[in-house]
Amino acid sequence: MASTHGAEVLVASNRGPVSYELRPDGGEGTLHARRGGGGLVSGLSAIGPDAGAVWVCAALGDADREAVRRFEGGRRLPAEDTGGQRVRMLDIAPDVFSDAYNGIANSVLWFVHHMLYQTPLEPAFDAEFRRRWASYESYNRAFAEALAEEAAEGAAVVVQDYHLTLVPGMLRDFRPDVRIGHFSHTPWAPVDYFRMLPDDIAEQVLRGMLGADRLGFLTRRWADAFAGCCEALTGGLAGTRIGVHGLGADAEFLRERAHRADVKERMAALREEIGMAPDGGARRTIVRVDRTELSKNIVRGLLAYRQLLDDRPEWRERVVHVAFAYPSRQDLAVYREYTAEVRRLAEEINARYGTPGWTPVVLHVEDDFARSLAAYRIADVALVNPIRDGMNLVAKEVPVVSDAGCALVLSREAGAYAELGDDAIVVNPYDVVGTADALHEALTMAGPERAERSKRLAAAATALPPAQWFLDQLNEL
Ligand code: G6P
Repeated sequence: MASTHGAEVLVASNRGPVSYELRPDGGEGTLHARRGGGGLVSGLSAIGPDAGAVWVCAALGDADREAVRRFEGGRRLPAEDTGGQRVRMLDIAPDVFSDAYNGIANSVLWFVHHMLYQTPLEPAFDAEFRRRWASYESYNRAFAEALAEEAAEGAAVVVQDYHLTLVPGMLRDFRPDVRIGHFSHTPWAPVDYFRMLPDDIAEQVLRGMLGADRLGFLTRRWADAFAGCCEALTGGLAGTRIGVHGLGADAEFLRERAHRADVKERMAALREEIGMAPDGGARRTIVRVDRTELSKNIVRGLLAYRQLLDDRPEWRERVVHVAFAYPSRQDLAVYREYTAEVRRLAEEINARYGTPGWTPVVLHVEDDFARSLAAYRIADVALVNPIRDGMNLVAKEVPVVSDAGCALVLSREAGAYAELGDDAIVVNPYDVVGTADALHEALTMAGPERAERSKRLAAAATALPPAQWFLDQLNEL
């Protein structure tokens, strides 16, 4: 099946580096490409167009599917849309895609690895689950077939994340000659939790992953959890190597981007919203920026802030909680409900404590990267308190762009804790009172200490930039 003109390096991920929007033009509509951000996109650009790398991803919606139709069946998207990257987009049937992405990847595997189930009633692995699982298999097979077709003899293929756990095993069967890596951007569940999956499915996931030559994780903790699952369920790693690559923040990109005019404008607007303390001084800010994931713990963050205002009324009028909670996976009802709860609680706090000149919580829910950077620059305290998180790049980005130094309140359940724990104020994410105390400690940290710690946090956060992160994995393969 190997093609003579195949690629030497391939990446596979559900979400690709570009996605399309279809704008009406009186006819068929015009396609507009939006380039994705994030570590993987910038990491891959480091290998350059000469490497002949191909990125295989899924069409995520109707506009992407239309793009696949218009551009030769997705065999290559136009280079001007992808920043020169060679991208093959797969048009997987919408119902199959939705069952695999929403029904399995986001509703089951994400829940297992982040330990999100309310176990008295869920999960219940019924016939509907089995039906969706069959879609997850087809979706994985579509990726494996495309990779098998695209790869040159002996190529290196790096598969990303929980969406594609079966791809390494399938690809191994199609193409024994290629070197296969898989990288998990999420935590891995501890064995007792992982075993909630039906036995055959749990084993299928592990064996799918073990089809790879090498598996990468963000921290030692997630790598050990995976190895623990294999020990219990498959009798070990069967020769598959495991490595840890703690993806870091891209300092160069962030610092340049954070000093552009649009960010400065947003800093001014934010300062306006935050307002001045009664004594005329600047109000302190506790900043959080998240996609509204169930694992991000935004609600307990608000509860902790409310506790702070109760326990220490001296902070009233003198602090503002700036919370950006950007939409994520709105196809899922529990995500919509969680978003509604975040809004409700923010409004409740504002109604109860707010005064004519002071809004205690400034909540924004429309995604705006420039505004996120503006908040990073002015934050006195960053609150990063996930229930569980593969890494959490926000914890790494804030200290890098902070103007005057920022105290970091960090959950011990975030992957970033392994690298940043020493200079952060560490919290148990379930402990609301403990988090309120940590916020107080962070707010009262003396300026010089904050600046010192922030500098060390930034150094740790940028130790492994995205490009190097990607190249290391490739070299190891
Ligand atoms: C989180 C995870 C990534 C994952 C992404 C998918 O950010 O850390 O590993 O790829 O979610 O999100 P999506 O918006 O594509 O469902």
